[in-house]
Amino acid sequence: MAYRNPFKPTAGASPPLLVGRDEVLEEFEESIDDGPGAPGRLSLITGPRGVGKTVVLNAVHDIVVAKGWIAIAETATTGMCDRITQAVRRHHEELRQGRSARVRGITLPVVGGGLTFESRADPPADLRESTASLLDELEPNETGLLITVDEVHRKSVGEIRHLATVVQHLVREDRNIALVMAGLPSAVSDVLSDSVLTFMRRASREELSDVSLADVRESLAETITRNGRTITSSALDAATEATGGYPFMVQLVGYHCWRKTTGSAIDDAATSSGIPAARKRLGSTVHAAALADLSAVDRTVLLAIAVDDGPARTADVARRIGESAKYVSIYRQRLIDAAVIQPAGRGFVDFTIPYLREYLREHAASAL
Ligand SMILES: Nc1ncnc2c1ncn2[C@@H]1O[C@H](COP(=O)(O)OP(=O)(O)OP(=O)(O)O)[C@@H](O)[C@H]1O
Ligand SMILES: [Mg+2]
Repeated sequence: MAYRNPFKPTAGASPPLLVGRDEVLEEFEESIDDGPGAPGRLSLITGPRGVGKTVVLNAVHDIVVAKGWIAIAETATTGMCDRITQAVRRHHEELRQGRSARVRGITLPVVGGGLTFESRADPPADLRESTASLLDELEPNETGLLITVDEVHRKSVGEIRHLATVVQHLVREDRNIALVMAGLPSAVSDVLSDSVLTFMRRASREELSDVSLADVRESLAETITRNGRTITSSALDAATEATGGYPFMVQLVGYHCWRKTTGSAIDDAATSSGIPAARKRLGSTVHAAALADLSAVDRTVLLAIAVDDGPARTADVARRIGESAKYVSIYRQRLIDAAVIQPAGRGFVDFTIPYLREYLREHAASAL
């Protein structure tokens, strides 16, 4: 019997079970229900690579769509505001057509092939006006518009500034609009340091981090049994442990352990070959991407941190690279902002992404 693999180890792909994000999503949903002015209607989601920012945006999207809202998902790249304007206009047009079709269906007999389109002026091109007129259409039905912006980056600060300014005006006018943006912590703080974007500094901040192992264990078991297989208790322990609570790794470990199983039960044999396969994929996807974002000096500092088996003392890191503590402290902060390392007690730092230490050791030469 062929078993379909339920795990989704792909960036941006919604997992079979979204572990540990209920609270974030409930808060957002309350803000939607509470009406204009509720704090979560303007949110910033940050966190390290692979922690699940994009899939939280997807979930936020689903929440409002279930309430009849319109949701537009964008990424912060050149042309973003134009694309949002186009999408707003398209939705507006669809709503009008849907409504006039309904009206025709009820009140008017179809005459001459049903060509009873009213002549309409073209909707305005400008983002603010287009959005306002779409909201005019939505608000009488108590629905609204959500815009999500993924991969916020300092390069796109101009576009974000434009969008935020438009949203700020609409929020002031108590319109039914929500804006949720996501990005790496360093990118988001770069964008927030823009003097025009003070408005976004009032946004609610959601810093996503690892999920609890208890939740991981439960979700792995549930996903597996729901999809027709079982997992032995010791295999489940090993798989849970191997994820380190890191969401991307939950999917990778689940996926590869599932693949290495032939019968109906995932056992120790499956985890002992599935876990190394998952780690390897983690390296070639997440670790490689996280390192590619950094400078050569950042990577040198990381290699010096990776010498220790646990948290590294910054003073030791400075000694290892032959630089002053002051010099290292600048890179320490850069790497914390990039969510690659985190403070681990006074004077110590540790990696945020699991197995990055091992990956750096194995790829020391190419990491530089
Ligand atoms: N809460 C979660 N529970 C289970 N799996 C998750 C969870 N969050 C994310 N994942 C899985 O982790 C992977 C990465 O998720 P996602 O692409 O959303 O991360 P990201 O934070 O947007 O990463 P990046 O910074 O690279 O854009 C996907 O395979 C996704 O299915
Ligand atoms: Mg993402």
